[in-house]
Amino acid sequence: MSKVTILNRPCQKDAAKRPEVERVFANRKVPEILKSFAKGRYFYIRTYGCQANIRDEEVMAGFLTEAGFTRTYEQAQADVAIINTCAVRENAEEKIYGEIGSFKANHTKNKDFMLVIAGCVMGEDGVGESLINTYPFISLVIGTHDVAKINDLLAKYLEERKSIVNIRSFSSEIVENLPSIRLNDAQAFVNIAYGCDKFCTYCIVPFTRGRERSRHVEDVVAECKKLVDDGYKQITLLGQNVNSYGLDLKDGTTFAHLLEEVAKLGVPRLRFLTSYPSQFDDEMIETMAKYPNIDKWLHFPVQSGSSSCLRRMARRYTREEYLERVRAIKAKMPDIALTTDIIVGFPGETEEEFEDTLTLAKEVGYSSAFTFIYSPRPGTPAANMEQVPPEVSHERFNRLKALVDELTAAHSDTMIGNTYEVLVDGPSKRDSNVLSGYARNGKLVNFVGPAYLTGCFVKVKILESHVYSLKGEMAEDPLISKARDVAFHMEHDGLLKEYARLNEEIASDPDIKALGEELVKAKKELALSMGTEKHKEKKNEYESILEKIHNHPLLQNRDSLHDQVESELLAIRDSIK
Ligand code: 5AD
Ligand code: SF4
Repeated sequence: MSKVTILNRPCQKDAAKRPEVERVFANRKVPEILKSFAKGRYFYIRTYGCQANIRDEEVMAGFLTEAGFTRTYEQAQADVAIINTCAVRENAEEKIYGEIGSFKANHTKNKDFMLVIAGCVMGEDGVGESLINTYPFISLVIGTHDVAKINDLLAKYLEERKSIVNIRSFSSEIVENLPSIRLNDAQAFVNIAYGCDKFCTYCIVPFTRGRERSRHVEDVVAECKKLVDDGYKQITLLGQNVNSYGLDLKDGTTFAHLLEEVAKLGVPRLRFLTSYPSQFDDEMIETMAKYPNIDKWLHFPVQSGSSSCLRRMARRYTREEYLERVRAIKAKMPDIALTTDIIVGFPGETEEEFEDTLTLAKEVGYSSAFTFIYSPRPGTPAANMEQVPPEVSHERFNRLKALVDELTAAHSDTMIGNTYEVLVDGPSKRDSNVLSGYARNGKLVNFVGPAYLTGCFVKVKILESHVYSLKGEMAEDPLISKARDVAFHMEHDGLLKEYARLNEEIASDPDIKALGEELVKAKKELALSMGTEKHKEKKNEYESILEKIHNHPLLQNRDSLHDQVESELLAIRDSIK
């Protein structure tokens, strides 16, 4: 009997097909076998790659927490471990093999240990199965389309104790009602669409994450509204190509419209990833310019500055068209910080084509850029084109890197002496007295400050620029920043809002008002009846009104909320240490 159950195998060819899309709801019922297994056990997740993978981690963490597992950040403590892989470049992929080996110790020590391999690499033909054959202690390989089935699949493994391969290459679903444990209390990622329809010739994403599927506007807005109500400070809307959002809904919905709906919810910082230059239309520019809470930072991947190279990449714009969009953006938002992705050594790239990339980067004046050496991906058209020799690619990469560092430094230098609002990520890894966070323009800022400012907005004056980060000093007393933050939370906190609403409702409730008047009257009569035979009767009347008040549902709700609100306020007090 085979030791592996194959439920679904990936097929990169199928990934290019466009299925009819259905909106479905996640099954949140935890199978009994998993529930009893999870008690007292730990899960561990390590994620590589982009925000789409990070978001998948949050969802898988949500499912595992619902099953009853506790999260651990210690690999050795894990009873279930997930490696969430990235396939965009080969080096990201190579890391997995070493990673899997490092979990052998968990397996040796703990016969119940389950190792799950997830993420984009699983979408490549044959990779998942070959991993299980090489490392039989892998319990499950799961594709990106099935993160919502993690609990059901783990339960199946527990029942049968046979490794499972479950990777679908195309998905006809948009799954809603997903649980999630967000990785950050102040900043959240929200998916607006899954997959990509662009099929750039170097890119594996359309094969691993399937064709483009947009979530419904109301689902995205409801998720964002909940985040705003929970006091989140920053929302990043996610899609491989946000500007295609809505095309598949075929009802005229555009990304600019969705962005506006989310901006109107009032989240302090709103950003989005990733834009496709030729689809970044004037409506987008208008919307971005109109709302101050939309960050004036735009990631605008160019990939190459040469029109002929862009054609081979199947990017649907020329150098001139890209530059025209940049001019239009800067005309409306002169302070915008533009960042980009650039690939060097794309098949057939000539020296002239490469130089076009250098001149374009200078002309745009990027505030920073991600630079990559082209890496052939299996099943993509560019993998079969004539490759650039590695030494040529490396030499060009170094030249491009030097230019990008120069542009990054030039942009950072313009910030010196000015004050920026920084959303604090937390103490820096190197020095716990130093806090790190990002300014609205996407730049990393470090400054000395107390840890209780994690998750707060802090005004920081920039003193020095160090290419990849800036150094600054707090422009106001830390307690003032914290007080502003507490005020922000009081305004947004769901419990406090409910408490205030209940108080208002109580104040205007005619029943409670009448009960209050009856109580005053009964109290007076009770006092007057003192020493008479009516005293006992009046006392009973008074007590029965008191009991009615005590049992009134609105007042009971307020009493129970009172304790929760109080413990929240005490938690804020305790955080200031
Ligand atoms: N080789 C190198 N870089 C790539 N990217 C995508 N595919 C490849 C590849 N095969 C880069 C692109 C993309 C970013 C996320 O990764 O620049 O914008
Ligand atoms: Fe890949 Fe191109 Fe889609 Fe971006 S737009 S995910 S580079 S295919």
